[in-house]
Amino acid sequence: MPKKMHIGYDLSWTHLEGRWSIPGSWSHKVFPDIGMYKEMALLAERGLLDFIFFGDGSGIPSTWKGTRDDAVKWAVGWPRQDMSPYIAIMSEITKHIGFGLTYSSTFMHPFYVARLLNSLDHVTNGRIAFNVIASSRQADAANYGFDELMEHSRRYDRMEEFMDVCKALWNSVEPDALIWDRDTGIAADPAKVHAVDHKGEYFSVAGPLSCVPSPQIEPVIVQAGASPRGIRASAHFVDHVFAASPGLAKQIQHRKALDDALLAEGRDPSKVGILWDVVLLVEENSTEAKRRKEQLLSVIPEEAIGAFTSHQYGYDLSNLPDSFTIHEINQDIIDRNASPVGFMNMTSHLDPDKTITRAEFYDELRQHSLSHKDMIAGSAQEVADYMEEVFVEPGERGGFMIAHPPKSPRDLLNVIDYLVPELQRRGRFRTAYTGKNLRENLGDD
Ligand SMILES: Cc1cc2nc3c(=O)[nH]c(=O)nc-3n(C[C@H](O)[C@H](O)[C@H](O)COP(=O)(O)O)c2cc1C
Repeated sequence: MPKKMHIGYDLSWTHLEGRWSIPGSWSHKVFPDIGMYKEMALLAERGLLDFIFFGDGSGIPSTWKGTRDDAVKWAVGWPRQDMSPYIAIMSEITKHIGFGLTYSSTFMHPFYVARLLNSLDHVTNGRIAFNVIASSRQADAANYGFDELMEHSRRYDRMEEFMDVCKALWNSVEPDALIWDRDTGIAADPAKVHAVDHKGEYFSVAGPLSCVPSPQIEPVIVQAGASPRGIRASAHFVDHVFAASPGLAKQIQHRKALDDALLAEGRDPSKVGILWDVVLLVEENSTEAKRRKEQLLSVIPEEAIGAFTSHQYGYDLSNLPDSFTIHEINQDIIDRNASPVGFMNMTSHLDPDKTITRAEFYDELRQHSLSHKDMIAGSAQEVADYMEEVFVEPGERGGFMIAHPPKSPRDLLNVIDYLVPELQRRGRFRTAYTGKNLRENLGDD
């Protein structure tokens, strides 16, 4: 029996960077219309996907030219709602689809996040995944009282402590502590409710969590760190990992690095999947998919591309000299303490020491911002061929996060109506939900 892959669908960017304005996208509705999200949750569940996902970033990009104006004008990285109440509403009309939600361990407090996710896990009946991020953007940091972004490895030290505290809180009340005995009037057994008494470098939390344990006890924990320190943090606490797709050879290396880190933590690598972030464009036939891929390149102007990429790398790309090497820019990004991994992924196909002109580099940025270069565009058969290879080679654990769909909800429909049936025919995707919660669904193979 072939092993089955798991699929998340990223709805974070459907209304951003010009995607909303492509004909056939967000028709009859404007962001943040809850009706649109309800419709997409129902579609994702019809297609038996594992979960829909909401990433986050809370600052409006302002690295480009030191101003937010171009980002505001072109909907670059904003507007974004806190999606937790949206998830509660979507869960009312669905039964199985999971919901991935993102909060930053660099800016938030673990008691607040643990309590919020516990409640969401109740409301959704065990369908919550938590994507914990270290945050790499100055505009986000500035909203939480940081003049400077915390140093990269300290952000991950804090993340590990943050997750240790969350897990201690989620387990501080035993599952059978609440008895609600009407005869005696006793609500709960004090012997089953435990303090946390955490005093660490970043947090001081007494506990217990003042909540009823939720259906999954802990939400499914996901993390996407790609640097050695980020991968080590993942190994410490994740259930599953998100990772970029910079090409099969690098993905096999990433899988190996994660496996080594998991073994060092005494964990079983066969239980931890990687969901590869992929931008897919599925159409009934290959020609139409490729036509649409080209159409994408003209949806936003250069100033929006600059605002997007400058924010991603925490580096103002408006001041680039006429020519330079990738190595020089990357060194500057490292010196400024942003996350260099994304930049390296974006430029991994370029020779780091070869001189590149500003115009050539902008061409790269345009293709990158619109996911043009990495986009897998084709018929369901072609896309399924790609997915099978990327799933099988690193060891058939996890699956994919389908990211940045250009048209919504049209591209989700194409995934569930063309791609999912093709994967099912190959025995690579479920034909019914079998788990009683998201963790179990993500564990079926
Ligand atoms: C599927 C996926 C989802 C991500 N979601 C977010 C997000 O919502 N917000 C964010 O700031 N970063 C997000 N990231 C970026 C990662 O959290 C991380 O910063 C990046 O992979 C670089 O890793 P590093 O910090 O170890 O260098 C995401 C990455 C991937 C692959």
